Amino acid sequence: MSAPKEAWSSRLGVILAVAGSAVGLGNFLRFPGLAAQYGGGAFMVAYFISLLLIGIPICWTEWTLGRFGGRKGYHSTSGIFNALLKHPAAKYLGVIGFVVPVIIYMYYVYIEAWALGYALNALMGNLSIDGKDYTTFFANFTGAGSDGVAFKFGLRDVGIFVVIVYVVNFFFIYRGISKGIEMVCKVAMPALIFIAIVILVRVLTLGTPDPAKPDQNVLNGLAYMWNPGDVAAGLKNPQLWLAAAGQIFFSLSVGFGVIITYASYLRKQDDVVLSGLTATAANEFCEVGLGGLITVPAAFVFLGAAGIVGQGTFGLGFNVLPQVFASMPAGHLFASIFFVLLFIAAVTSSLSMLQPGIAFLEEGLGIERKASVALLGLMTAVGTMFVWYFSKDLKALDTMDFWVGTVMLFVQATILVIIFGWGLGIKRGFEIAHEGAEMRIPNIFGIIIKYITPTYLVTIFVMFLLQNV
Ligand code: PHE
Repeated sequence: MSAPKEAWSSRLGVILAVAGSAVGLGNFLRFPGLAAQYGGGAFMVAYFISLLLIGIPICWTEWTLGRFGGRKGYHSTSGIFNALLKHPAAKYLGVIGFVVPVIIYMYYVYIEAWALGYALNALMGNLSIDGKDYTTFFANFTGAGSDGVAFKFGLRDVGIFVVIVYVVNFFFIYRGISKGIEMVCKVAMPALIFIAIVILVRVLTLGTPDPAKPDQNVLNGLAYMWNPGDVAAGLKNPQLWLAAAGQIFFSLSVGFGVIITYASYLRKQDDVVLSGLTATAANEFCEVGLGGLITVPAAFVFLGAAGIVGQGTFGLGFNVLPQVFASMPAGHLFASIFFVLLFIAAVTSSLSMLQPGIAFLEEGLGIERKASVALLGLMTAVGTMFVWYFSKDLKALDTMDFWVGTVMLFVQATILVIIFGWGLGIKRGFEIAHEGAEMRIPNIFGIIIKYITPTYLVTIFVMFLLQNV
């Protein structure tokens, strides 16, 4: 095959698209939830080590392999692995790069629908009533099957929003790389950062809203999130290392087969080293700098530590935060824009989970875009129906998440670095990475990618299995 049919139209566009994939619910809900749960300090040490040993190396690996595959006319992980390894088994290895994002999409889009539904309900004033029981609101909103009705479609039910997010996602995916994904991200990413900064300023100026509870002030809220605590003791906990590595994967969208697909639509001489690093930096800014300073500190100011502990990611976002906004001056407005922010962040991520599937169907089945969009739409919709219907049975979801979101993800990430470090070889890999590059990958990353990252991945994975099987 010759030049790719589709390509990003600008360098900024591809950086914003990759950053859009990375910045998502993970930054504004998952990260603060985990950091608060494991104690800011120790978690951040493990988090930054994982960023250095997993996040950045796999990011460069995916950008490089992706552009390499794209030049040969391949965009799916199967095609790209085949072009690289020239071995019949390569195609099958690459199938994980199709399965993992598609299955994650099936869940993720469901939560995206919550965010959209909450944004609308917040605008209508349903979410900022002081003293209202938001846990019940949430249960009713998501409660497929709770009253015998499987799928409900009122404005206070998630159903209609699931339909809307599907239409939005597949409309833009159908429009393609530059006219769909890139166009959305170019508008959405600046808007997202602007909104997040507005909310951050609001949170940082909350002061001490209730004089009767002088401890519940912003500074203590930040301290609650960021207090280093007993770092040495924290680091002895294997679960913390797993959580930190998992967060790096999830948040940066690395290891899923998503970035490799995006990078395959780069043009020949496009830079990959600096662009990859810029997208990573943008994600970290939105995660540590924005996400880490908004949700947990705000919750602390109004509800104290007791309101946060044990809430988990979704509890924090959809049960705790509405209460927080309800107590805040102009909470109505801030609740609306916060859930709009979550929704925007989620859309740019879910689009990226679909593109590997489209590439796979187009290449694997040889069908054209329209048919592959329709087929993927059907497959994911059936999956989301299951998620929606069975979301009460958290155990079934956990099992799925275990196999797909963790086991297959680790396998895929390890395959990626091994192909780069051992299949291509560091020397050749770096040569390819450096074509058109405006920055060189520091030499130390040769050793990291070849030896340290695979060892670190396998160690964490074995720890994970020991804990969970
Ligand atoms: N990185 C996204 C987030 O932080 C989630 C994501 C995972 C996106 C996997 C693409 C692939 O929410």
